[in-house]
Amino acid sequence: MEQRSVCAACPSRRLNLEDTTKPPAYYKGKEQTYLKHFFLERYLEAVAFHIGYAHEEFVYVDCFSGPWQADDEALADTSIRIALDKLNYVRDGLAKQGRYANIRAIFVEKNPAAYRTLQAMLDQYRRAIRTTALPGTFEDNINTILQETGKTFAFFFIDPRGWSGFAMENIAKVLRHQPGEVMVNFMYDFINRFINYPDAANEHSLDRFFGTPTWRDIRKAGDREAASLECYQAQLRSVGGYPFVTSTRILKPLSDRAYFHIVYATRSPKGIVEFRRIEKQTVNEQDSVRAAAQREHRQTRTGQGELDLAPAGGISRTTQDERARRLREAEVRLDRILQEGPVRYEHLQPRILELPLVWNSDLTSMLLAARSSGAITIDGMGPRDRTPKKGCTIRLTAAF
Ligand SMILES: C[S@@+](CC[C@H](N)C(=O)[O-])C[C@H]1O[C@@H](n2cnc3c(N)ncnc32)[C@H](O)[C@@H]1O
Repeated sequence: MEQRSVCAACPSRRLNLEDTTKPPAYYKGKEQTYLKHFFLERYLEAVAFHIGYAHEEFVYVDCFSGPWQADDEALADTSIRIALDKLNYVRDGLAKQGRYANIRAIFVEKNPAAYRTLQAMLDQYRRAIRTTALPGTFEDNINTILQETGKTFAFFFIDPRGWSGFAMENIAKVLRHQPGEVMVNFMYDFINRFINYPDAANEHSLDRFFGTPTWRDIRKAGDREAASLECYQAQLRSVGGYPFVTSTRILKPLSDRAYFHIVYATRSPKGIVEFRRIEKQTVNEQDSVRAAAQREHRQTRTGQGELDLAPAGGISRTTQDERARRLREAEVRLDRILQEGPVRYEHLQPRILELPLVWNSDLTSMLLAARSSGAITIDGMGPRDRTPKKGCTIRLTAAF
């Protein structure tokens, strides 16, 4: 049966809900948004399946939902539509396995016109998952959100336009919700432009965002990007009581600079493993999408056509360099952890994979190489096992 929706630009027009593909072509000039959605869609699928299967209850909270800058009539290029499609897909997939999960979604939107479009979209998108639309600001809705969430596992997606509207002290209750986790769009490009701005109101708003006055140290840091992230992530870790906090960088389409970072805080080691798995896919996608955007930009500038030489699955030089640096960091961290004593694989894995661009296959290679060189032993790895796994214990050998 045909499902129908409303157009963001013209809510009275009824549209076909079935044409929901979201290729990069939907996002010309905003490839960073495509990559954010690429990541969100995959992570949401992973976490909803995992939690829905084990606990039969899951709630997704889009705290700054939009719709915003939607070019597609059926809102296929918005986080709202992506989440609805994905959560319904997960629910149906679980039902096929005999798991009838209660999956819900809550959307919060401050702008009245955008809220009306959101509401109209949800009214017409009547599928199996239950949805709630909350008008007003995220901060003003926090108590309602937490009441709605109850004791259910909640995945909070915070995707603002800048850094206001989610002051650390105000969102503390959300961060502390258990069971739950949070993904924040850390708008580095935007924040960075204001770090040096010596205006009292600006400084006060950054105090509220970071939840600490120590963000001022970023001004003196050699690597301001790393320092900004470190400051924010440390705050998430301590305010929310998260053992694991990590992030991944989304670059500007036309230059090798960060647009934003997707920051992720979780209490689940498995969450970290999933985050890195999806980062790996996103890195490949990012390279090919940016190569296409840059080629098109050159063609527009010069008026000359070019052959399509977008990398087919290869990783760009910028990312390779960053990855090489991160892998060295991972080796140092591995050594430091092992110096503390023997460690179970399942405890080691999330601590290493917390590092951006360090993937599970890297950890496996590091451990197998260290075992071959005689630096470590891996107890519990059977003769047929090709990779270390849960239950294995890794220890430095006496010789090292
Ligand atoms: C970057 S857009 C969200 C984009 C959306 N997540 C997506 O990926 O399609 C941010 C949205 O948050 C809304 N907004 C701004 N301040 C807000 C606040 N304090 N609370 C809730 N929503 C807010 C804006 O109107 C806008 O629609």
